[in-house]
Amino acid sequence: MEKNLKPILLLLAFLHLLLDPTPIIIIQGQLLPIVDDQGADNATLVQTYIIHVEEPVNAEELGTEDRVRRHQSFLPNTDLDSGEPRLVYSYHHVISGFAARLTRDELRSIEAMKGVLLAVPDSEVVAQTTYTPKFLELNQWDSLWHDTTQGEGMIIGVIDTGIVPTHPSFKDDGLPPPPLKWHGLCDFGKLVCSNKLIGAMAFDSGMHPLPLDDQGHGTHTAGTAAGNFVHDAECLGSARGTASGTAPRAHLAVYKVLYKNRGKDSDVLAGIDRAISDGVDVLSMSLGGSPSLPERLKSTTIGSFAAIRKGIIPSLCAMNYGPFSSTVVNDFPWALTVGASSHDRRITATVRLGNGMEFDGESAYQPSEFNSTVQLPLMYPGVNQTQVTLSCQKGSMAGFDVRGKIVLCGTGHTENYEKGEVVKAAGGAAMIVMNQPWGGFTTFADANVLPAAHVNYLDALKILNYFGTSPNPTATIIFKGTQYGYRPSPSVASFSGRGPSLNNGGILKPDVIAPGVNILAAWPFEVGPDPTGNKTSTFFFSSGTSMATPHVSGIAAMLKKNHPDWSPAAIKSAIMTTAHVVDRDGKPITDESTDHKPASLFATGAGHVNPSAANDPGLVYDLQPEDYIPYICGLGFKDHVVQAITRAAVRCATVGSITPEELNYPSIAVSLNSTTPERNITRTVTNVGEPDEVYKAEIQEPQGVKVNVSPNRLQFSGPGQKLRFSVDFSIAGKSQKGKVSEGRLSWVSDNHTVRSPISVTF
Ligand SMILES: *[C@@H]1O[C@H](CO)[C@@H](O)[C@H](O)[C@H]1NC(C)=O
Ligand SMILES: *[C@@H]1O[C@H](CO)[C@@H](O)[C@H](O)[C@H]1NC(C)=O
Ligand SMILES: *[C@@H]1O[C@H](CO)[C@@H](O)[C@H](O)[C@H]1NC(C)=O
Ligand SMILES: *[C@@H]1O[C@H](CO)[C@@H](O)[C@H](O)[C@H]1NC(C)=O
Ligand SMILES: *[C@@H]1O[C@H](CO)[C@@H](O)[C@H](O)[C@H]1NC(C)=O
Ligand SMILES: *[C@@H]1O[C@H](CO)[C@@H](O)[C@H](O)[C@H]1NC(C)=O
Ligand SMILES: *[C@@H]1O[C@H](CO)[C@@H](O)[C@H](O)[C@H]1NC(C)=O
Repeated sequence: MEKNLKPILLLLAFLHLLLDPTPIIIIQGQLLPIVDDQGADNATLVQTYIIHVEEPVNAEELGTEDRVRRHQSFLPNTDLDSGEPRLVYSYHHVISGFAARLTRDELRSIEAMKGVLLAVPDSEVVAQTTYTPKFLELNQWDSLWHDTTQGEGMIIGVIDTGIVPTHPSFKDDGLPPPPLKWHGLCDFGKLVCSNKLIGAMAFDSGMHPLPLDDQGHGTHTAGTAAGNFVHDAECLGSARGTASGTAPRAHLAVYKVLYKNRGKDSDVLAGIDRAISDGVDVLSMSLGGSPSLPERLKSTTIGSFAAIRKGIIPSLCAMNYGPFSSTVVNDFPWALTVGASSHDRRITATVRLGNGMEFDGESAYQPSEFNSTVQLPLMYPGVNQTQVTLSCQKGSMAGFDVRGKIVLCGTGHTENYEKGEVVKAAGGAAMIVMNQPWGGFTTFADANVLPAAHVNYLDALKILNYFGTSPNPTATIIFKGTQYGYRPSPSVASFSGRGPSLNNGGILKPDVIAPGVNILAAWPFEVGPDPTGNKTSTFFFSSGTSMATPHVSGIAAMLKKNHPDWSPAAIKSAIMTTAHVVDRDGKPITDESTDHKPASLFATGAGHVNPSAANDPGLVYDLQPEDYIPYICGLGFKDHVVQAITRAAVRCATVGSITPEELNYPSIAVSLNSTTPERNITRTVTNVGEPDEVYKAEIQEPQGVKVNVSPNRLQFSGPGQKLRFSVDFSIAGKSQKGKVSEGRLSWVSDNHTVRSPISVTF
C-alpha cells in the first residue's frame, strides 16, 4: 500500500485533515447574571466563582482585613467541610469583589444578596503557544532605544507561566534599582532576583507556589519584552547573534498564573490585582480566556479596565485562531490588541525532489552530517487517510516501513517537533512537514529531533502531487542556515486572530501587528535531538500572537517613559497612527494565509508597529476610563455588568450611550446600508507635536463610499490643544450587502502623518 493512489485522492485526503480543524467556537454569551456550566445538575458540587460586589463608599479607607471581612460576610461560613477556605482571593485593585468556593445553591443565595452585582464561574485561560529589535529598527544611536535609554526605569508586568530567573537574559548588568513606587515581592529570594527581575509571584487557587517556569512560554515572553543583551545567542546553531528584549533596560515583574500553559480567571485576576498594587507600568498578557465565557466577563477584559484606571497599559494577544474570520479576542477598546507578523529572517531548509524541483522550508535543527546529495525514498503515511496518519501522530507509522526514508507529515493536532519524534522512533531518516490550507505561507523554524523542513501550503501540494505521480518518489533536504532579506516582509502570520470582532460592537481589531513568527528568546531547557542537560542559556524559536504581544509591551513601556503624562489610550493611539501600512518594499502588507495577497484591515489593524515613529505621533486620539462608559452602555450591557467592569456606580439611563463608532478611537469602522446610507461620526485629536502645527486631511475613500471630513484643516495654537472634526460617510453607487470596503484618513502636517484605517461594512 504505497503511493499507487491517484494524486487527486491524496490531495483530498490532505485537505480533509483540516476540515476537522479543532473547531473554533466563539459563543456570543447571554447577558448575565449567570452563567451555567458542567455542575448544572449537581447541587453539592463545589466550584470557584468570581463575585463582583458594589464598592463600599469608604472603599479607599478600608484596610486589607476590613476588605477580607466584608467579602467573607457574603459567604455562608469561612471553611468548607473539607477544611478548605471558602475565600480564594479577596481582590482590591482589579475588581470590587472576591473569588470563593461555593455550591450552586450557595451561589444562588449569594446572588440574591444586596450589593452583589455579578457572579462569574471561574473559567479556563490558556497561553498562546534576536533579531526582532533590529527588524523594528531599534538601535543604540537614533531610535526609541536611544531616546528612552531602552526603557530604563519602567516596569513591565508579565502575566504568564512564570520565569526561569537564572537565564542570562534576566541578568542585572548594572541596571538601576526599581523606582520608589515599586512594592513588589520576589518569591525566589533576593539572591535570585535583581534589578532586572524585580518581582516574581505565583497564584494558584489562593496558594503561592514558586513562580518557576517549567513550560517556557513565560520565560520567552518576558525575554521578548525586556530581556537583557546576550551575545552569541542561537537555537541549535541557527540565528546566531546578540539577543535582546524590546526594552532591554526595563524592569520585569512576573506573575505566574498558568500551569502547563493553562490557568483560571480567578488566578489571572489575582495576578493583575497584585501587579497594579506593585506599581507596574505595562501589563503584558499573552493569554486568552475560554470561548465559552463571554468576552466581557473574562479576566483579561475586566483586568485590563482596572489597569487603565491606574494608567497602566494592558497589552494583549489577539490569539492564534486565524486565519478564520472573527477569531480575534481580547478585543475591548481599552485593551491594546496585538496580532502577529512574520519578519524577514528564515532558517532555510530546502527540499529537493527527485525530479529536481526545490522548495524552501524551515528548520532550526540543521545537522551538518546529513548528506544532502543522497536522494532518499519518500513515504506518506497519510495515504491511509486517517487524522492520525495524515498528521504523523503517535501510532501513525504502523504498517509503514519508514526506515531510512523521508516521511511526509501534515501540520496540526501535534507540534511539528513531536511528529519528528514519531518519525525518528520508527527509524525515519528525515521529515517534511506540510502546511494545511489555513497555514498558508507561515512556516516554523522548529527545534526538530531529526533532519526536517517545514514547507508552505502551495509547496506541500506540489510535493504531494509529485509523490502521487512518480513511480519512485525521492527527496533530500539541503540546509542553508540563517538567511535575511526574505520578501514580502513583514506579512501577517496565518494563525493571527482576525476581525471583525463579534464582541465589541464592531471596533476594528486587532489594533496592530508585531513580529510573532520564529521569535528567538530565552527558554528554560535545551531543545533539539541531543540535549546535554547542562546548558544554562538556551534560546528557542517560538511563534504566536503571544510572541508579538511582548514586543508591543516593550514599546509601550518605552513610550510611557518618554511621555509619562500620556494615558494608556494616548500611547495606543501613538502606536496605531504611526504604524507601517506598507511592507519593506513599499507594497501593501500581505497575508501569509493566502498566496501573499494584500492583507485586510481585519488582519493588520492599523498596521505594523513602528516604534520610533510612535515616539512622535503629532496628534493622539485620547480616551479616559470614564469615556468608555457610554460606549459600554451602548452595547446594551446591563447596569450591574457596567458597574462590575468599570467600578463606577452608574446607571446607563442616566449616563446615556454612544454607538461604537462614536468612541474616540484611532481607527474607524462604520456600517452603511440601504436604511442607513449615511453616517456622521466625530473625533477629537490632541496636539502632542509642535505647538503650532497645521494639519490637512487626506482621505483615501473606501470603494463605493463618499467621505467628507470637516473641517479638513486643523490649525493648532498650543501644546495639548484639542480639536474636533467630523467624518461623514455616504454610500456612493451600488453596494453589495456584506461587502467590506477599506480606506484611510490621514492628518498630514510638515512633520507628521497621523493615519487612521477606515473600514466600511455594507
Ligand atoms: C456531584 O458532585 C460531587 C462532588 O464533586 C460528586 O461526588 C458527585 O458524584 C456528583 N454527582 C453527580 C450526579 O454528578
Ligand atoms: C554523500 O553521499 C555521496 C553519494 O553516496 C558520497 O559520494 C559523498 O562522499 C557523501 N558525502 C559525505 C560528506 O559523506
Ligand atoms: C495503514 O494501512 C495499512 C494497509 O491497510 C495497514 O496495514 C496499516 O496498519 C495502516 N496504518 C495505520 C497507522 O493506520
Ligand atoms: C555537558 O554535558 C556533557 C554530557 O553530559 C559533557 O560531556 C560536557 O562536558 C558538559 N559540558 C559542560 C560545559 O559541562
Ligand atoms: C442597516 O443598519 C442599521 C444599523 O447598523 C440596522 O439597524 C438596520 O437593520 C440595517 N438595515 C438593513 C436593511 O440591513
Ligand atoms: C452628515 O453631514 C453632512 C455634511 O457635513 C450633512 O449634509 C448630513 O446631513 C449629515 N448627515 C447626518 C445623518 O447627520
Ligand atoms: C518640521 O518641518 C519643517 C518643514 O519641513 C522643518 O523645517 C522643521 O525643522 C520640522 N520640525 C521638526 C521639529 O522636525
